[in-house]
Amino acid sequence: MAAETPIPRKRITTPEIAARKGGEPIVSLTSYHAHTAAIADPFVDFLLVGDSLGMVMHGYESTVPVPLELMVMHGRAVVRGARRALVVVDMPFGSYEESPAQAFRNAAHVMKETGCGAIKLEGGRRMADTIRFLTERGIPVMGHVGLTPQAVNILGGYGARGRDKAEAAKIVADAVAVAEAGAFSIVVEGVVEPIAVEITQKVACPTIGIGASAQCDGQVLVAEDMLGLFERTPRFVKRFDDLAGRISAAVETYATEVRARSFPGPEQTYAPKD
Ligand code: KIV
Repeated sequence: MAAETPIPRKRITTPEIAARKGGEPIVSLTSYHAHTAAIADPFVDFLLVGDSLGMVMHGYESTVPVPLELMVMHGRAVVRGARRALVVVDMPFGSYEESPAQAFRNAAHVMKETGCGAIKLEGGRRMADTIRFLTERGIPVMGHVGLTPQAVNILGGYGARGRDKAEAAKIVADAVAVAEAGAFSIVVEGVVEPIAVEITQKVACPTIGIGASAQCDGQVLVAEDMLGLFERTPRFVKRFDDLAGRISAAVETYATEVRARSFPGPEQTYAPKD
């Protein structure tokens, strides 16, 4: 019997994201697993396997300790789960800053091993040569400026950036350098609104805001934040659900029923055949 023809997967591409500049807002969430990727896939344009997974999934205090292979492992899972959305995988701290060659080697590894469509890296002007090197060699790059969490030990925290004129000008110059180096889009994180407006007006590629106002070309959030899995959420996050509360209530009911021997009931119990 002839093998069934596999259904072709038509994934959103990086040129399609780039072409959305100034158009319908681009929608994105982070994703770290196949199952949640499959749930979010019909509604988002791209899924970001953010290195925030180190804090959200693995209990690290920052994203600094996240190893490359962890990104590969979660990246593979998300690519398996999503059929339509572009999958972008974050390059973790220490895997790309040393030189363009180091960045290419590790980014190519991530793309080959996960099947993702693009990588993201943090940094502005200092990363421009690396972004040019990667994009000229077939690796689509999403930039990330403003609050760059991998630099938390330099920045001293996760507060919004660009409140003074000098820092605001630096962040705008960073975004312009990243765009001119060939990034197909740029995450703008944790900046005051006028910076997001100026960057969005100045760069040719779409800006993806997180804590950067509605003026960007798209938005990304950490899925667990917007689902309400954590007690504390940053000011820029809107909780679209209270999953922690609902999970807690469901687990409490389960525990009560197990202790009362009312679960499993007859519906969940196998009976012998007559
Ligand atoms: O790691 C991450 O999840 C990110 C987003 C918050 C933009 O970089």
